[in-house]
Amino acid sequence: MPVSPVIARLDAVFAMLETAGRNQYGEEAVSQLQHALQAATLAEAEGAPADLIAAALLHDIGHITDPEFEAAMARGEDRWHENLGADFLSGLFGANVTEPVRMHVPAKRYLCAVDPDYMAKLSPASVKSLNLQGGAFNGNDACAFIAQPHAAAAIRVRRWDDRAKDPNLATADLSHFRSYAIAALKR
Ligand SMILES: [Fe+2]
Repeated sequence: MPVSPVIARLDAVFAMLETAGRNQYGEEAVSQLQHALQAATLAEAEGAPADLIAAALLHDIGHITDPEFEAAMARGEDRWHENLGADFLSGLFGANVTEPVRMHVPAKRYLCAVDPDYMAKLSPASVKSLNLQGGAFNGNDACAFIAQPHAAAAIRVRRWDDRAKDPNLATADLSHFRSYAIAALKR
């Protein structure tokens, strides 16, 4: 049976993650692909719905779709990878996937504002990028963030993201997560 155009596009995204994801994830001890797989594995282990597992898997796809990302980071520029990634994914997925992806950086700024332990546990690279991304929210911005739809989902993705930098955390391979992504596709 021929593969539908939508599934073919999804498979192209997975192929991109499989190939480009072999690069190291910034200054972390894992590759982009390991980081993505670990985030999805943590989501699956918590029994998250398919759309959040897909969001966890693809939350940093904006690092990969942007050829300037690494060079810009090295120059100390923020490329807004969360928006690039969410916009890239919007052809395939609805808001339950794209908005947690778009909001996973604001979720870090929110958690730094409301959880004193959170910032202390960020990796050095994540602290560095936090400064580029505007730092912790002030009280008003934190209140505005948490009032938005998808804020709670974005915080869940963010917490998996932060834990998905462990060189010793084993995961299934990418094909294991294809069925979740298919279940999360826009209808
Ligand atoms: Fe990430």
